[in-house]
Amino acid sequence: MDASVTDKSSPTSWRDFPIKQQPDYPNSAHLKAVEKQLQALPPLVFAQEIRDLKYNLANTANGKGFVLQGGDCAESFAEFSANKIRDTFKVLLQMAVVLTFGGRRPVTKIARMAGQFAKPRSADLEEVNGISLPSYRGDIINAPDADADARIPDPERMLLAYNQAASTLNLLRAFAQGGFADLHQVHRWNMSFVEASPSKERYQKMSTRIEDALAFMEVCGVTSQTAPSIRETQLFTSHEALLLNYEEALTRIDSFTGKCYNCSAHFVWIGERTRQLDHAHIEFFKQIENPVGVKIGPTITADELMRLIDALNPENEPGRLTLITRMGADNLPQALPALIRAVQKEGRNVVWSSDPMHGNTVRASSGFKTRQFDDILTELHQFFAIHQAEGSYPGGIHLEMTGEHVTECTGGAYKISDTDLATRYLTSCDPRLNADQVLELAYLIADAFKQVSIEPGKR
Ligand code: PEP
Ligand code: CO
Repeated sequence: MDASVTDKSSPTSWRDFPIKQQPDYPNSAHLKAVEKQLQALPPLVFAQEIRDLKYNLANTANGKGFVLQGGDCAESFAEFSANKIRDTFKVLLQMAVVLTFGGRRPVTKIARMAGQFAKPRSADLEEVNGISLPSYRGDIINAPDADADARIPDPERMLLAYNQAASTLNLLRAFAQGGFADLHQVHRWNMSFVEASPSKERYQKMSTRIEDALAFMEVCGVTSQTAPSIRETQLFTSHEALLLNYEEALTRIDSFTGKCYNCSAHFVWIGERTRQLDHAHIEFFKQIENPVGVKIGPTITADELMRLIDALNPENEPGRLTLITRMGADNLPQALPALIRAVQKEGRNVVWSSDPMHGNTVRASSGFKTRQFDDILTELHQFFAIHQAEGSYPGGIHLEMTGEHVTECTGGAYKISDTDLATRYLTSCDPRLNADQVLELAYLIADAFKQVSIEPGKR
């Protein structure tokens, strides 16, 4: 990575296109100065790591892997601690073990962390305690406090976000490679989860089988000491690349290939609200080599999807593009089959991933924004079943989740009710699955995942 060429390499063409969901910074000289500072800072990730992830995703597109992507809806400056990072990392690993065993495929882990700070909003204004304020757009842009000054976009926040992302990544890398992620250890955490769960009987069988598999490998000499794959893991990072000033500043030319890589994360995606074909986000994504995702909701047509694929993956490169469906349990059976058929008919290489969160958001009678565990599970089951029926490969899931014991989504084995939501409702944005709910989900979908097959040549 040659930092000396960064100024020239930042792709700026998006600036000539219409753009949605951006802050209106009051002082453009201040913004420019911060962008310059960011451009001079080291990249957060390295181009070769980005290529490694693309390679994994290419295998996934071919039915030889699975992607587990998860983390907070929005990271925040206030809720930032080593324990919080550790707990989310831990639960991602635990889930990955269950899915690897269930699906008999390697699971690529991508955290929604170390950069997930900017949020699209449904309106420019929101009402807080009876006053109308400019919407909170995520900590990288403004503050959530209920006063007008806090809501003024401040470019300095990009530097704070960069620094928080850097220290988050530093800890994640240490956890992934420093022995914390040892498979035996992760399995012990899963055993404790199963022991304590009200649905213990349901999960115990698989847990025992994983235990046996590990014991068998140990006897064969495959141990933490002999096999790095038992002792270490690889975790990639991701976020919605919404605030393009930040993304542009962290995009660098890789001296090895001469191409542009967005080094703010390994994987970035475009949200449902900013994926207009003739707008800035698509233009920016065309300039970067990273594997990218795009969220697609229930109203997209097959034709629109094909044009989106043309724009984002004109070379039909496997691993470049992940389509993240977020339809809602009620809409998926109606909307998904036609999209899958269009992709198959045109022979497009994509990873299909399911976000079962964003189409299933409801307002509880208590007033909290929530999601029901059963709706999330239903959307995932349908996702597997529909792909299977169409001869297509369901390649991943994308969750809003946390390792903390929050009460934000209802249901699950602990039967969180509407009235329980107030107990620990901590999210600064959308409701997340808590650690128990996430693991339950892993056990419950592992069986469905096991049935998934892919015939050679048919995708
Ligand atoms: C998100 O992933 O937090 C999000 C806003 O998703 P979508 O663009 O699908 O609404
Ligand atoms: Co969200």
